Amino acid sequence: MTSPIRPSVSSAIPALDARYKEALAAFERDYPQFDLAALERLRAEEYARLDAQGHVYLDYTGGGLYAESQLAQHQALLRENVFGNPHSGNPTSLAMTRLVERARASVLAFFNADPAEYAVIFTQNASGALKLVGESYPFGPGGHYLLTFDNHNSVNGIREFARAKGAAVAYAPVLPPELRIDETRLADLLSQARPAAPHLFAYPAQSNFSGVQHDLAWIARAQALGWDVLLDAAAFAPTNRLDLRQVHPDFVTLSFYKIFGYPTGVGALIARREALGKLRRPWFAGGTITIASVQGDGYYLQEGEAGFEDGTVDYLNLPAVEIGLRHIANLGLDTIHARVICLTDWLLRHLLTLRHANGMPLIHLYGPAGTAQRGGTVTINFYDLDGKLFDYREVEAQANRVSISLRTGCFCNPGAGEKAHGLTEADLAECFHKEERMTFESFITAMSGKVKDAVGAVRVSVGLATNFADVYRLLRFAEGFLDRHA
Ligand SMILES: Cc1ncc(COP(=O)(O)O)c(C=O)c1O
Repeated sequence: MTSPIRPSVSSAIPALDARYKEALAAFERDYPQFDLAALERLRAEEYARLDAQGHVYLDYTGGGLYAESQLAQHQALLRENVFGNPHSGNPTSLAMTRLVERARASVLAFFNADPAEYAVIFTQNASGALKLVGESYPFGPGGHYLLTFDNHNSVNGIREFARAKGAAVAYAPVLPPELRIDETRLADLLSQARPAAPHLFAYPAQSNFSGVQHDLAWIARAQALGWDVLLDAAAFAPTNRLDLRQVHPDFVTLSFYKIFGYPTGVGALIARREALGKLRRPWFAGGTITIASVQGDGYYLQEGEAGFEDGTVDYLNLPAVEIGLRHIANLGLDTIHARVICLTDWLLRHLLTLRHANGMPLIHLYGPAGTAQRGGTVTINFYDLDGKLFDYREVEAQANRVSISLRTGCFCNPGAGEKAHGLTEADLAECFHKEERMTFESFITAMSGKVKDAVGAVRVSVGLATNFADVYRLLRFAEGFLDRHA
């Protein structure tokens, strides 16, 4: 048995005080739908290590947490069975194949997808799923790659494939302060698709920067105008129901560790079979072909998902996907969603009322201040009593000292950050037309000179095991910046 890896700092998490009791009573009054007792039972049974080690975990958009029962079930399965590589036809291989296919079916069931309409391709992570689409989509002259400003870099990166094949690349802006889509501009951009060339529109169901949830009605609207739609569900799926009989995106991408913590290293591309048929793979690999020949210099790709899973899938981990999805289904995705909304609402209301003694606000929020059409990702900066910014790196260092895990920086989502901080195309263009590679530090310094504040922020995100004490401690931590100079 190894000893737990405790936070590398000595100061303990602040004890809950008398004000906590009052705040908890008020929370119970304001959010009667929040079943505090059920969540405490879950914490004690499945996530006890959080409290035992004094962690306040608030980085669920970075990664979800696994329940102890997930580990136990997966380990028992491995211990009690003999599994071989599913590419063979022997008994141990067939046993594994059965479980891989069960995992695939469980993903379809979780998203209520019709197996006749959708296929599940296992990938290494959401980025792997995005790359599969990017490298195989039939971009070409006359076609487009359209994406919203607030995409993760792994969605932004597809523009390089699009450009290399001669397609036009365009971004649909998001508008501060809420960082929601500029609907007029998006409608305008979508209307530019012409038949005869393929057009791909990509957006996140939930922004990992602002927590904004974009309207899923854009999927059908875009499709009606001739677009294929890629919905990045990586930040949305952990706490929201995505029903693939209600909406029909052509491609959905996600990572499972964001939903239930374990295993890492497995994601999925859930694709409409019809859309899969449009993809052209740039190569073939073991497992993706029916036959290939050296002297015949040819190959035939497998049909459906098999043609997209390069080499051997992470087969021993795939049963843990089914276990994880079952865990979420047992907890109830709607229950998780409702809890996250209550905690986010409380956090937003309390953070946004924090003021220094001179009346200056402490917190600047990037994203919606209410919980309509948003998830549990809250991105903020801290300002001092003279309106000067506390550097996010300093905020993170102080959070680390009290065992609060949050995320700082730009969260691999540069476009949302640029809009949030008011950076323009002209500000940024000069950084990318230099011979020399710019370092991150010199980039931050250059950008800080362009806008009033540093570029970057603090992200707090809540999830399936967050309790009231976690958000309360975050609020008390934030209060520690009141009436101080940056
Ligand atoms: C919205 C969104 N898309 C894509 C990704 C990429 O996920 P991964 O790093 O697991 O490939 C992330 C990760 O944070 C994300 O938040």
